[in-house]
Order: sequence, then C-alpha cells, then structure tokens
Amino acid sequence: MTRRVVITGLGGICGMCTSTGAIWQGMRAGRSAIGLIENQPIHDIKVRTGAEIKALPEHGIDRKQTVSMDRFSLRGRLALVTGASSGLGTHFAQVLAAAGARVAVAARRVDKLQGVVEAIAAEGGEARAFALDVADSASVRACFDALCAWGVPDVVVNNAGVTVTRPALEQTEEDFDHVLGTNLKGNWLVATEAARRMAAAGKGGAIVNVASILGERVAGGVAPYAISKAGVVQATKALALELARHGIRVNALLPGYVVTDLNRGFLTSPAGEKLRARIPSRRFGEVTDLDGPLLLLASDAGAAMSGATLAVDGAHLVSSL
Ligand SMILES: NC(=O)c1ccc[n+]([C@@H]2O[C@H](COP(=O)([O-])OP(=O)(O)OC[C@H]3O[C@@H](n4cnc5c(N)ncnc54)[C@H](OP(=O)(O)O)[C@@H]3O)[C@@H](O)[C@H]2O)c1
Repeated sequence: MTRRVVITGLGGICGMCTSTGAIWQGMRAGRSAIGLIENQPIHDIKVRTGAEIKALPEHGIDRKQTVSMDRFSLRGRLALVTGASSGLGTHFAQVLAAAGARVAVAARRVDKLQGVVEAIAAEGGEARAFALDVADSASVRACFDALCAWGVPDVVVNNAGVTVTRPALEQTEEDFDHVLGTNLKGNWLVATEAARRMAAAGKGGAIVNVASILGERVAGGVAPYAISKAGVVQATKALALELARHGIRVNALLPGYVVTDLNRGFLTSPAGEKLRARIPSRRFGEVTDLDGPLLLLASDAGAAMSGATLAVDGAHLVSSL
C-alpha cells in the first residue's frame, strides 16, 4: 500500500530528525512513497534512510485538512451588536449572521435597525431589533430583559460610539460627558450587564469591545474620544481578568480609520488626505478588513484569547515617530 506522508518544517535540525524517524517507521510499516514539501534536506534524508522521497510544492497541501474552519462558525450562537444602526455595527451584524449566528441589533434609531434586520433576512439569516441607549443604565437593563426573552447572548459586540471633534480647549463639559458617557460608561454598562446574564445562565461568552487605535495613541481634536477609548482598552483587560472564571472572554478590536458617518466629513477633507498619507499602508480601512479579526475574537477560533487588543489599522499604530 502506498501512503503519502506530508512533513513540513524540515529546515531545522528537529525537522530533519523527526522526518528521518517518520520515514524509518513508514518503511517498516511497508509504505513506499513519502512526500515532503521542502527540497532542502531531502538529499540528506534519502542518504540516511534509503527511502523513496518526492518533493511536493507548498500549494499541493490542502490546508483544510489541518485547520478546521468550523472553529470560526457561529452556528447556534446568539450575538448582540450595539450601535448596529449604521457604519461598522451594521456590517458586524451582517458578518456575524453570515457566520451562522442569530443576531440582535441594538441602537437608539430603531427605524434604521429594521433595515438591517431585513437585509440579514434577505441573506437567509435571522435578526431582531432592540431599542438601546447605552449611556442609560435603565435602557441597558430593559434591552437585556427583552433580548434574554429570545436568548442569553453568547457574543456581545460592544460597538456603539460617538465623537466630538474640536480642540481640547473648546470641548465643553457636555461634549466630554456625551463622549465618555457613550463610549466608556456605555461600554461598561453593556459589558457588565451582558456578563451578569451570561454568568447567571451558567454559560460562557465572548465580549468584543470596539475600541480604537486612539485608545493607544493620540491625535489632535479628539481628546475626549481618545480618553474614552483608552478607558475601553483598560476595561477590556480588567474584565478579562475577572470574568475568566465564568468562561467569559473579553477582547478589544482597535480599528484604524475606516470611512463611516462618524468621520466621513474629516476623512474626505484635505486634512483627511494628509492623514492618509501618513498611514504606512497609505490607505484607510475597509469595513471588510475587520471581518476576520471580529470572527476570531467572537468564535471558538479565539477560545484562548482574552484581554487582548487587536489593532486592524494598516500598521498605523506602529508608524514612525
Ligand atoms: N470609523 C472608524 O474609523 C472607527 C475607527 C475606530 C473605532 N471606531 C469605533 O467603531 C464604533 C462604530 O463607529 P462607526 O464608525 O460605525 O460610527 P457610526 O456610523 O457613527 O455609528 C455609531 C453607532 O453608534 C450608535 N450609538 C451612538 N450613541 C449611542 C447610544 N447612546 N446608545 C446606543 N447606540 C448608540 C449609533 O446608533 P444610534 O444613533 O441609532 O443610537 C450608531 O449605530 C465606535 O465605537 C467607534 O468609536 C470607528
């Protein structure tokens, strides 16, 4: 009987020894052909074992045999997305639905949410709309009461956010309270209420906080926003620590600049063009850039990830000082 054995990582000493041992065993078991994916050490192994060895190109390997994409699936899961009435939130809801989740979309503008529910249904998914003001604890509790009648969420994408763009010395107390109240307090209220419900139901879950690269660095004109997102980064780590015992993972996505209602005016202005030129990848993000990172953090593919911050920014955070 001829069997094909594929061995990768043959470049180093360990790879050589492992493959030589495997080949000896294969020969003893009566296998006559052995395939390898790298040419470099084949001659040596041939000499050492006398085996018949064939080199395979990298693309000859079916990666699906070794990496199960099922771990990214959200089939059977219920996901909540806050701030789903526009921009990234609308897209996140559609991505989670496409991965198999039932999706609860929440925001203040329920009329806009209905359009998202219909778009998801048109693609064969299942979604429901829930009214939510994340800055108001009574609204957060009421939203979770209504949602939990449908099911306790397995995934919460804590995405609602606002900004006020003007110099720090012109930001009013109301501006500061509005931005911090939505982005930081709102994020906290949703994450902790979600975790209470998950823990009470005796099941784990995944909370994905949508922070920003402005949670780690600063830019002019958005001081309260940057302060709020730095708070979200710390909240992510603090909650990851305390919620691990409940099987609840908490991670943060740090998107770079993606054109949405939040920033369209600025990013499409001459000042936005200058900003784009300073991004190492020389481009603003597309909403689809976030699909893989979102699914990683939301699904079992990221089962060991908690307290992580994942920048998706075309290397903007590591741009040269
Ligand atoms: N776009 C970017 O470049 C970028 C980069 C990094 C991070 N982010 C973050 O990504 C998230 C989404 O931003 P976006 O760009 O998609 O902005 P967007 O298009 O303006 O969407 C913001 C969403 O937040 C919701 N929202 C605002 N205040 C709320 C409240 N009090 N309660 C419930 N929902 C509220 C809005 O819905 P309602 O008005 O209907 O309530 C809307 O759905 C934000 O957290 C933002 O900071 C965006």
